[in-house]
Amino acid sequence: MKKFLVLSITTLSVLLFLGCEGPAGVDGIDGVDGQDGAQGPAGADGNVTCLSCHNNVTQEVIATEFAASQHSSGAIAVDYAGGRSYCAECHSHEGFLEFALTGDVAADIANPSAWECSTCHAIHTDFAADDYAFRLGDAVTLIADGTTVVDGANNNICLNCHQSRRNVGYYDKYTADTTFTRTFTGDDIAVYQNAAVGPGGSKTLNGTGDTLTVVFDVPTTYAYISSTHAGPHHSAQGNVWQGLGGVTDGTPYAAHDGGCVECHMGPESGHSFWPEEGNCMVTGCHTSSKESSLDAFAVRVAAAAEALEGLHAIHLDDADNGYVYGNIHPVYASLPKAEFNAWWNFMVLLEDRSRGAHNPTYFETLLTSIETDLGL
Ligand code: HEC
Ligand code: HEC
Ligand code: HEC
Ligand code: HEC
Ligand code: HEC
Repeated sequence: MKKFLVLSITTLSVLLFLGCEGPAGVDGIDGVDGQDGAQGPAGADGNVTCLSCHNNVTQEVIATEFAASQHSSGAIAVDYAGGRSYCAECHSHEGFLEFALTGDVAADIANPSAWECSTCHAIHTDFAADDYAFRLGDAVTLIADGTTVVDGANNNICLNCHQSRRNVGYYDKYTADTTFTRTFTGDDIAVYQNAAVGPGGSKTLNGTGDTLTVVFDVPTTYAYISSTHAGPHHSAQGNVWQGLGGVTDGTPYAAHDGGCVECHMGPESGHSFWPEEGNCMVTGCHTSSKESSLDAFAVRVAAAAEALEGLHAIHLDDADNGYVYGNIHPVYASLPKAEFNAWWNFMVLLEDRSRGAHNPTYFETLLTSIETDLGL
């Protein structure tokens, strides 16, 4: 009877409880931790995977080498090119970072700075033995045509910047007779009094002799040099290495598919990036410097420079300097296609700045073509 009563009261309180819900009780105390799991497999030896790159010696040596590189002084970066929105992706730390993030540099940068370690290196992705923590280490789509994709492994970081900005089609593009009128003053008057103006072009000096008006006539058998900065830009190295950039294509430099890193970051250079001769003569590679073959190319490029100056396609600031790129720049001109093509191929070899080292076979092809087009 007593038992029955107890049960009834319990049943009643359950019913009462269901009928009218009270406030939730306080959370119970956390349970006791479970047992540790079994130990995972041993990781790779830290000394091998991490210290092979991260050790005091390497870091110090790299810092010293890097201090000797033009990247680290960044004269042009700080001076002006690193700040301009359309130059900064290749010319300053800040520009390259923004480009890496968004694919563009949206506005001018106020205080651009030179390259740092973190311009090229960002963060590890998988810690594999070849993970150099590159920023933009993937294959590169070439700017000049917007379609060719080059995958040069560790050279990709360099290719982002060391590539042509334009191909010949950017300049040789008119499908109907076209004319361009420009005026020149100061020292330019002497240069353009001899301008190559095309069959129907003209040069007229005004009454006071301080302004020369030049009409360049560009029929379809001609092409027009439209700027004193015309050309692929000073960065054609990657294209030439790939056998690209000239009026006609060649083939990549297969014998040196190790690329920029192989010649510019070998044992003598490391992070100075300067192509020391010692890099060529590492065990099992060349037994002598290649200087003489580079000199032979340079002599022919210098001969082409003089011929092109004679045609008023380029201006040598100091004629004796021959093949010194800082002293050569294009001039506005309307040229028959053969001469124009010779000018373009010359600009590619000039701006590549390697005297043939970047692709001797392609250099030979373009030089022969220049010599044929100029009758040298
Ligand atoms: C192939 C060479 C290489 C190997 C191997 C390597 N690293 Fe790095 N690591 C780099 C480079 C290059 C950088 C960027 C420049 C610098 O700081 O020295 C870097 C940067 C780092 C950074 C700084 C990242 C940041 O955001 O600032 C850490 C942390 C790091 N590595 C950890 C490791 C660890 C842990 C291992 C081993 C599992 C390892 N690395 C193996 C080349 C390497
Ligand atoms: C696609 C990348 C890229 C872009 C965009 C670019 N440059 Fe450059 N520029 C380079 C590289 C790479 C070099 C270094 C070549 C060398 O040292 O041989 C260079 C070199 C130069 C030089 C040095 C020439 C010398 O004689 O040493 C000047 C000046 C220059 N650039 C100006 C500009 C200006 C101005 C702009 C924007 C209108 C610009 N660049 C845009 C990649 C670029
Ligand atoms: C212009 C781009 C660039 C800059 C700037 C740069 N590095 Fe590197 N770094 C590279 C490339 C490319 C490699 C891979 C070299 C190779 O394939 O052998 C590399 C490799 C390394 C390695 C691996 C070990 C080695 O020497 O191969 C370390 C560590 C490293 N960099 C640290 C640094 C540090 C520290 C700085 C700044 C003082 C720096 N890097 C600046 C491009 C750069
Ligand atoms: C962010 C763009 C950028 C990257 C990445 C880059 N460079 Fe440069 N490099 C330049 C510019 C711009 C100059 C001219 C620097 C100046 O005078 O301000 C230059 C200069 C040079 C020079 C001239 C000589 C000197 O003293 O340094 C060499 C050689 C060179 N780079 C090789 C390389 C190699 C090899 C790599 C890849 C490991 C590389 N660069 C990566 C833009 C770049
Ligand atoms: C086969 C070796 C080799 C390869 C591959 C190579 N270079 Fe060079 N590079 C050289 C040599 C040698 C010179 C200097 C030639 C001279 O003394 O006139 C040079 C010159 C340069 C210069 C001009 C330096 C100056 O201001 O005078 C730049 C910039 C450059 N290389 C960048 C690159 C880049 C970027 C790559 C990869 C796309 C590359 N190189 C691939 C050997 C090489």
